Amino acid sequence: MNDKQRAIIPDDNIQMVDLQTQYRRLKQEIDAAIQEVLVNAQFINGPQVKTFAAHLAQYMDIPHVIPCANGTDAIQIALMSLDLQQGEEVIVPAFNYVAAAETVAMLGLIPVLVDVNADTFTMDVNKIEQAISQHTKVIIPVHLFGQACDMGPVMQIAEKYNLYVIEDNAQSIGASYTDPSGKVKNAGTIGHIGTTSFFPSKPLACYGDGGAMMTADDKLAERLYMIANHGQEKKYRHKLIGCNSRLDTLQAAILNVKLNYLAEFNRIRIHVAERYNEAFEQLSDIITPYKPAYTSHIYHQYTIQVKNGKRNALQAWLRERKVPSMIYYPIPLDKQEAFKVYACKAGNLSVADHLTQVVLSLPIHTEMKANEQDYIIEQVIDFFRKN
Ligand SMILES: Cc1ncc(COP(=O)(O)O)c(C=O)c1O
Repeated sequence: MNDKQRAIIPDDNIQMVDLQTQYRRLKQEIDAAIQEVLVNAQFINGPQVKTFAAHLAQYMDIPHVIPCANGTDAIQIALMSLDLQQGEEVIVPAFNYVAAAETVAMLGLIPVLVDVNADTFTMDVNKIEQAISQHTKVIIPVHLFGQACDMGPVMQIAEKYNLYVIEDNAQSIGASYTDPSGKVKNAGTIGHIGTTSFFPSKPLACYGDGGAMMTADDKLAERLYMIANHGQEKKYRHKLIGCNSRLDTLQAAILNVKLNYLAEFNRIRIHVAERYNEAFEQLSDIITPYKPAYTSHIYHQYTIQVKNGKRNALQAWLRERKVPSMIYYPIPLDKQEAFKVYACKAGNLSVADHLTQVVLSLPIHTEMKANEQDYIIEQVIDFFRKN
């Protein structure tokens, strides 16, 4: 590429996720939704919360959506609803955000870490059975970076050993999973309970904290509702030990608008990812994201693997050229100080460990301009030309 053909440096700062431009695009609808909440002043459990839960249930094709305060609470409440005893074990992936393992440990349960696949980053289903003991009660597959974990084998194992499955779908809402019989389902609706987060950068996001649980099981739904609302059966009748975990009415109003754009936003990110894939095809030092046939990919993250020890140098190169990038995740859970006591329960986690050394997530969002992406691509290609 000669100088005349070089991509133009974009005027605005490149961001991992551009929430400001997205807000400007949706401003009229969002402002009206917020205004309505302010005027009605039903800030807790206002009608928008129920409406949103109903709309999301319809979108996900599942009978029950139970909103709560954030995605971490969603996992915690899901675990609380299963009547588990202290010391019982829950299988979680080692290469992951901390939330699943953290809530397990916080409830006095034991997180048993399982390795992940090198190509999909999700839990290696072939390693689940060896992690099962007589104390195992739950598996938490995590649908990481925008695609689904291979749920068919997870559900088969769960049935064989009589285990519950909680799908952590914070990053992949709107992704679909094709089960071994060919039936297409939404990620997050396959296990006993699905959980999600509406953190501002997530695929379905509000302007603060928010989360939800979903289930097809009426009894579990009732328990989830109660636990998220102080364990109340009726006002001041506390049947279960619960917590206070509510989705704010304001956030629900925002989510009611954003849900209408979820499919479009997911499609835009897929388009951005496809442009990256095409541009990086010839780079032998990069592994682009792999999408197996059983899942769609909504590219919450566009995460490459950088070979030959060049990851950190590439990140520094991009930083110097004002291209942000992130390492999701820099340390496997067994090596985190808080989780060292649980490392003895883990199997071989060499893939998770390896991934922490090679992964790099590039900017991807619903507002990415072509010239912005061209500039990012050019910086990546330039690095490998010279290094
Ligand atoms: C995979 C995963 N699970 C759970 C969570 C927790 O969500 P929240 O931040 O809403 O508590 C996150 C958020 O980053 C996540 O990425």
